Amino acid sequence: NGSQLMASVTSLASTLQQQLADALTAALPDAGTADPLLRRSDRADFQANGVLALAKKLKGNPRELASQVTAALPAGGPVKDIEVSGPGFLNITLTDRAITETLAARASDGEGRLGVPSAADPGTTVIDYAQPNVAKEMHVGHLRSAVIGDAMVRILEFTGENVVRRHHIGDWGTQFGMLIQYLTEHPHELDRRDGADDGEAAMSSLNRLYKASRVLFDSDEEFKARSRDRVVALQAGDPQTLAMWQRFVDESKIYFYSVFDKLDMDIHDPDVVGESGYNDMLEETCRILEETGVAVRSEGALCVFFDDVKGPDGNKVPLIVKKTNGGYGYAATDLSAIRDRVRNLKADSLVYVVDARQSLHFKMVFETARRAGWLGEGVKAHQLAFGTVLGKDGKPFKTREGETVRLVDLLDEAIDRATAVVREKAAKVGLTEEEIVENGRYVGIGAVKYADLSTSAVRDYKFDLDQMVSLNGDTSVYLQYAYARIRSILRKAGDARPVAHPELELAPAERALGLHLDQFGEVLAEVAAGYEPHKLAAYLYQLASLYTTFYDQCHVLSEDNPAEVVENRLFLCDLTARTLHQGMALLGIRTPERL
Ligand code: ARG
Repeated sequence: NGSQLMASVTSLASTLQQQLADALTAALPDAGTADPLLRRSDRADFQANGVLALAKKLKGNPRELASQVTAALPAGGPVKDIEVSGPGFLNITLTDRAITETLAARASDGEGRLGVPSAADPGTTVIDYAQPNVAKEMHVGHLRSAVIGDAMVRILEFTGENVVRRHHIGDWGTQFGMLIQYLTEHPHELDRRDGADDGEAAMSSLNRLYKASRVLFDSDEEFKARSRDRVVALQAGDPQTLAMWQRFVDESKIYFYSVFDKLDMDIHDPDVVGESGYNDMLEETCRILEETGVAVRSEGALCVFFDDVKGPDGNKVPLIVKKTNGGYGYAATDLSAIRDRVRNLKADSLVYVVDARQSLHFKMVFETARRAGWLGEGVKAHQLAFGTVLGKDGKPFKTREGETVRLVDLLDEAIDRATAVVREKAAKVGLTEEEIVENGRYVGIGAVKYADLSTSAVRDYKFDLDQMVSLNGDTSVYLQYAYARIRSILRKAGDARPVAHPELELAPAERALGLHLDQFGEVLAEVAAGYEPHKLAAYLYQLASLYTTFYDQCHVLSEDNPAEVVENRLFLCDLTARTLHQGMALLGIRTPERL
C-alpha cells in the first residue's frame, strides 16, 4: 500500500534500503518470509537477487515472478524505477527526493544522533577490558584490549545499551609475596618523589624494585622463605602486609592512568575491580562447585572436566579452580566475577576483551558457569578475542634485544611521527605551534587506534608506524584530513548555508554518497550486535572515499551553480562531516577542525 510506504520515507528507524527490502518482502508471494537479498549495486541503486531462489522454490519462471513483484509494489513510494534484468534480478532506482528527504530528516534529528535510533528496551552489558597487571609494564597486548574495549563501550552506549565497565587488573597472586617482603625490608624504595603523579617515575621505581627483589629471591634462600611466608600473610589478610600491597596497587595505578591519559581514554577508578576484588567470594565459589558436583577433586586439586578439552596425550585437561596447595587461581576469580556481574550488576551480556591466547580459559570458564547455573539462558557471554601485534618482520613484536615493547615508547614515537606530518602542512593551514602539538597527539594516537580497530580483532596485525601515519590509504590520518577539508569548505562557503533541496536532481556521486550516509545507523547496529568495530572503520573509510569522488565530480562552491545546488551540496558536505566526526568519536579518535 502506497500510503504506508510514503509515510515511512522519512522514518529514521530504518534506512531506505531496509524500507525497500521490507516493501519487496511484502510484495513477494511467499507470505513475507522470503529474503529479497537486496544489495547496493553499480547498475542501479540496488539489486534484489532473492527472486531467483524463490522462483526455484515455487517452481516458477523467475522473470515472470520478478515482473509480478514489480507490479505488486505500491506506486508513489521511494521507488523511481524498477526493471527486471538477466535471469530475474531486479534493478531498483530510488527517487532523488526520497534520498534527500531522508538525509534531511537525519540531519535535523533534534537529539544530534543523525537519526540513529536508541534502544527502547536496552540491556545491560558488563565489559571487561583494559586490564594491565600491577607492578608490571604495559605492553602492546594491553593496547589492544584498551583500544577495542573503549570503542565498544562508546558504540554500545550510543546504541542505548547500559554499559558497566570492569578493569580486571592483575593485582593478586604469589608474586606479591616477594615484592612485599622486599619493600618491608627496604621501606623507602617506593617513597614519593617530586612530581609524585608522574606515571613514568612510578613505573621506573616499581621496575627497580621488581628487579632487585627478583635478584634476591633467586640468590638468597632465606629471603625466598620469608617471601613465601609473606604470601601466607597476604592471603590471611594481615593488615600490615595488605597495607604494603596497597602501595603497589596505588603506585601502579598512577602509571596506568598516565598511559590511559596518553591514549586519550577515560578510565574511572570505581570501575577498576581487579582480581583481588573477588577474594571474598572464592571460597564460596569453590564450595558451590564442589557441592553441586560441577567440580571434582583430582590429585588434590578441585577440577572441572570437559569432554572436548584434551591434551596431546589424549587425557582430559581440567579447569583448575583450587590448587593442590589450597591456593585459588585465575579461574576461581573469573567464575566469582561472573557471579558478581550477573547477580549484582544485572548483566545480560558479558563481554571480555582479552587476547585470543586465553580463549580456552574463557571457553572452560563460561561452560563451568553455565553448569553451575550462574550463567542462565538469558545471559550471553562472549570473548571479544584479539590477535597478536606483530613487528614488521611478521613475528610477535619485540625490541631488538628481544624484550616486549613498552607501550609508552610506541605511543611517544607515533606522536612524534604524526607531529612531523602535521608540521609539514601546518604553514599552509596556518596552524599555531600549540595547534601543531595538539593535532600531533590526536593524529598519532588516532593512527595507533585506527590501525588496531580497522582489522578484524581476532586477526594479528603488523605494527608499522610508516603505514599508520600515511596520508594515503585506509588510515585515520586520511579520515582526519577528509574531515578537516570538509570543515574548511564549510567555512569558505561564507553566507551560503547547508540546506537540503529535495526537488533537485542528484548526480550519481551524490546518490552514492547519500545512500551510504543513510546506512550509518544500520552499520552501528551491526557493529554493536557482533562486537565488530572494524566494520565501523570500514564504513568510515568508504564514506571518505565516496566523499572524495563526490568532491571531484560535483563542484560545491562554483560560481556557475544555482544557489540551491550550492546549498544542497553544502548540505551533503555537512552531513558527511558530522557522520565522520561521530563515527570517529565512537572509535575514540579525535577529528581536529583544522589540519
Ligand atoms: N590481566 C590479564 C592479562 O594481562 C587480563 C585479564 C583479562 N580479564 C579477565 N577477566 N580474566 O593478561
